Amino acid sequence: MAKLKADAPVIHDGCAVTESQLGRFVEIGQGSRVANSVVGDYSYCDRFCDIANAEVGKFSNIASFVRIGATDHPLDRASLHHFMYRSDDYWDDAERDAAWFAKRAARRAVIGHDTWIGHNAQVKPEVTIGHGAVVASGAVVTRDVAPYTIVGGVTAQVIRRRLPAEVAERMMALAWWDWDHAAIRAALSDFRALNAEAFMEKYA
Ligand SMILES: CC(C)(COP(=O)(O)OP(=O)(O)OC[C@H]1O[C@@H](n2cnc3c(N)ncnc32)[C@H](O)[C@@H]1OP(=O)(O)O)[C@@H](O)C(=O)NCCC(=O)NCCS
Repeated sequence: MAKLKADAPVIHDGCAVTESQLGRFVEIGQGSRVANSVVGDYSYCDRFCDIANAEVGKFSNIASFVRIGATDHPLDRASLHHFMYRSDDYWDDAERDAAWFAKRAARRAVIGHDTWIGHNAQVKPEVTIGHGAVVASGAVVTRDVAPYTIVGGVTAQVIRRRLPAEVAERMMALAWWDWDHAAIRAALSDFRALNAEAFMEKYA
């Protein structure tokens, strides 16, 4: 029997999934937190990821210890400390700062379809990782990444293209990630055997 299913995600031990939508065939690795996020069909994260305020597309491969959407503390006030907004944790007569939390929640990170976020990488809030892009292990991504581009380093810089621009454009037009489950199964041997160019020749 297939381990992953359309009707319910596989969520491993010790996870906290809150205010989030998980798509079909999704797997959330042990000890991960997913908060205020959407995780698209077939996407997964490995162990101990922290994904907040993010829109993750389909078929995203998120390695262990990745952090997406790490929130910021206020830099321009008298203090950096969260007593200013988690105030009810400290005083019975103080309320949480709902506006501060709403502002944070609105700063969405976007991870495209068929992406690979390497081990221990970070993607900051409001950053978009284009479809087909790769983030190297250990990278800190502070700026948008173009589709089918490989970036790495702190802060992340372009390493090289994953696919030539013309092939990337055709792949995004093909949008195989929108095919249904049976169509992807039918093309499985070609996904395995063909390189991207040959795959395009056959299917585009
Ligand atoms: C980014 C990555 C995909 C590049 O793969 P590649 O193109 O085959 O890598 P190469 O070894 O040919 O390196 C290409 C260049 O990228 C650099 N590079 C590779 N990995 C890097 C990293 N993690 N951070 C910064 N630079 C990196 C190399 O130093 C090299 O630079 P140079 O051309 O100046 O010498 C790969 O190194 C990586 O990080 N994979 C993620 C692995 C992972 O997290 N696995 C978890 C399980 S899913």
